[in-house]
Amino acid sequence: MTSHLTFIHRFEPGTRLEAPPLLLLHGTGGDENDLLQLGRLISPGSALLSPRGKVLENGMPRYFRRHAEGVFDEDDVRQRAHELADFIEAARTAYGIGKLIAVGYSNGANIAAAILLQRPDVLSSAALLRPMVPLSHAPNVDLSDKRVLMVAGQHDPIIPRENTLRLHDLLSTRGADVESHDLPIGHQLSQADLTLARRWIRTPDSVAMDKAS
Ligand code: MLT
Repeated sequence: MTSHLTFIHRFEPGTRLEAPPLLLLHGTGGDENDLLQLGRLISPGSALLSPRGKVLENGMPRYFRRHAEGVFDEDDVRQRAHELADFIEAARTAYGIGKLIAVGYSNGANIAAAILLQRPDVLSSAALLRPMVPLSHAPNVDLSDKRVLMVAGQHDPIIPRENTLRLHDLLSTRGADVESHDLPIGHQLSQADLTLARRWIRTPDSVAMDKAS
């Protein structure tokens, strides 16, 4: 029975036991189908859980409200991060999967960062593609068992470099093992994102961590 799972979502069971389950979080205007192919490519055989954001901005799904581009409604960020974290835990039980690695793009990366900062136990680690600082006053949680991949675009018109550096600092001062890359591109995803995420997910640590969970 999965009717109690309160996000519209797609779930694909894993086909390789050693492949870590992935939580796929789309960007603004995306949906639960958007990142499935990315997930299959970066970690073949992983179980994939892909929820659709519940907030609509001019008909475009997102995971939380914003006042303007880059200006977040932080009360909503906090509340929606908890709601999504509850869904993730319920889905893990319903589908019988281990702790998930979040793979988020843009708005999806931002809600993944908000979950890491508020409910760190819900995720095993996170690949954040074009992320921003989701909360100006983030809780002082312990992230020393988390690996984080951050991939920014040097020509991203939405995300100032200062913001990327602040997020890196915020996560690493809380103990996360942050691997950070600046690609010579803009906000859109590229083949280089895929290659970096695939390599990062395959590192022995992430497999070992997932087996232990
Ligand atoms: C956001 O969360 O608003 C993003 O960083 C930008 C976007 O989704 O367009």
